Amino acid sequence: MAGKLLDAHGRKASYMRVSVTDRCNLLCRYCASKERVFIPHDRILRYEEILRCMGIARELGIEKVRFTGGEPFVRKGFMDFVEEAGRRFPDLTLAATTNATIIGKHIDRLATSGLSRVNISLDTLDRDRYRHMTGRDLFQVVRDNIDACVDAGMTVKVNAVGVRGFNDDELPAFLELARTRPVDVRFIEFMPIGQDTGWSEGSVWTASDIIREASELEKLVPVAERHRGPATMYALAAGKGRLGVISPYSNHFCGSCNRLRLTSEGDLRTCLFSDRVFHLRKILRHPRLKDEHVVRVVRTALKSKPIGHDLLAAKRERGVCSTKMAAIGG
Ligand code: 5AD
Repeated sequence: MAGKLLDAHGRKASYMRVSVTDRCNLLCRYCASKERVFIPHDRILRYEEILRCMGIARELGIEKVRFTGGEPFVRKGFMDFVEEAGRRFPDLTLAATTNATIIGKHIDRLATSGLSRVNISLDTLDRDRYRHMTGRDLFQVVRDNIDACVDAGMTVKVNAVGVRGFNDDELPAFLELARTRPVDVRFIEFMPIGQDTGWSEGSVWTASDIIREASELEKLVPVAERHRGPATMYALAAGKGRLGVISPYSNHFCGSCNRLRLTSEGDLRTCLFSDRVFHLRKILRHPRLKDEHVVRVVRTALKSKPIGHDLLAAKRERGVCSTKMAAIGG
């Protein structure tokens, strides 16, 4: 299996996002469709199959795995799975992306499970807007769970998709959150992923606009990141947390992309902006096929990993993926 995962552009894959389910208890307008059709259970990778993929990926140089959904915590047994993953792969950095609506009772367990880094998706700090955007009146639950995660000693990032005309008047409230709590508040540019998401060129609240507008409210000090990641971070004067922007739309970071994505049905995706998938489930379930066969597919996938921004530029108008974000996992 020796040999790390290098793609044709010299990029090394060291980070894998694993969607454990396409199901979610929220119905965010830009992410899920109203007529949701869920993937049947038998096509969803079993936890043991995911663990096998993680083991193979680790051998190939993956250092960090982030569990996503849908909403990962809606899947039965997710906490037991997380603990097992932590036990089996103590050298992997484990993280999760969650809407934090149903994690309340798991927080203490999470904090000691080996998964102590959570990214919490929260696009608005206004209760009515939250209900309008997600279809559920759970804003306060999420807000309380952010505090509970912090209090339990977890590393917490709050991710908000920046949408013009939806939350672009909420910078003061988000800055206040980053000032008063030790969390990184990060705005992600709205990407044209999936169909019927309400995306338009004008709906993108660009990272440069966000930083310009935030600078009018607060002194922002750029932070030199230790790890190269997609976010550009700023410290706030006298702030416990920080403000950041992630600019997949305006300012691509494809050149340094280190990601692989494993969907809940066992498809490997090398790029968020491409519909191309490499099927792993059948190989994983085939009695005579071994890890080396999985590795072969992973390497083949990597060879064709695109510089996605070209795809985005070409297909901006129609949306770049036929798959909804809810089924890819962000
Ligand atoms: N553009 C940017 N971010 C998105 N997310 C979902 N859809 C989009 C989109 N079109 C975010 C979610 C979550 C993360 C996994 O991806 O809000 O924070």
